[in-house]
Amino acid sequence: MSPAPLGLVVLISGYGSNLQAIMDATASGEIATRIRAVISNRPAAPGLDRARQAGIPAVVVEGRRGQPRSEYDSALQRAIEPFEPDLIALAGFMRILTPGFVQHYAGRMLNIHPSLLPRYRGLHTHQRALEAGDAFHGASIHYVTEELDGGPVVRQARVPVLDGDDEASLANRVQLAEHRIYPEVIGWVASGRLAWRDGAPWLDGQPMNGPVVTETDGLGGVRPSGE
Ligand code: GRF
Repeated sequence: MSPAPLGLVVLISGYGSNLQAIMDATASGEIATRIRAVISNRPAAPGLDRARQAGIPAVVVEGRRGQPRSEYDSALQRAIEPFEPDLIALAGFMRILTPGFVQHYAGRMLNIHPSLLPRYRGLHTHQRALEAGDAFHGASIHYVTEELDGGPVVRQARVPVLDGDDEASLANRVQLAEHRIYPEVIGWVASGRLAWRDGAPWLDGQPMNGPVVTETDGLGGVRPSGE
């Protein structure tokens, strides 16, 4: 008998294209996962409809003005708990999480961030990469720790910045890469390749000393990173 699929809860705030990529990889059997719920802090997040259409429980946990972060995070945790996830995937979840929440899910929560971390933590990453004149931009998947966008990075996709790129064109190509690497990393967890041990990520039975990196050709194809 094959082992039970990895139980996932995906947290979103918006469009949900990464959620869709994870749903597609799950539906095709590419990754041994089961999305138990999608939770959004915004009731109008289009990603909620993606979940509903696929018959996945879609839950809204809306914050109130002036509400302490710890109170919101307790409500979020109460919403997550009945689904008993093995892993939480933050996929465009636009809230800063409290240390208590992060510690509760230590080693069981991943985030996708649209930059080559540690460059450009926070917002407006595409614009910042363009303004800096970077030759490469990209996306990172990391474990969530108390430091915002600062947890151990396990996977990166490098995306060349092309002549004439603007924020939208660069963001589009970075997202194509995101849609490949997020399901891939979740698949690593599902198959047992990637695990969290003693406060650090291990891949294939070895402690990771940096992320697995690939480079796209700028058009959507992938080649191994040449650095
Ligand atoms: C992605 O670019 C992700 O890196 C960032 O938020 C965006 C979410 O996009 N954290 P979507 O909602 O998955 O389309």
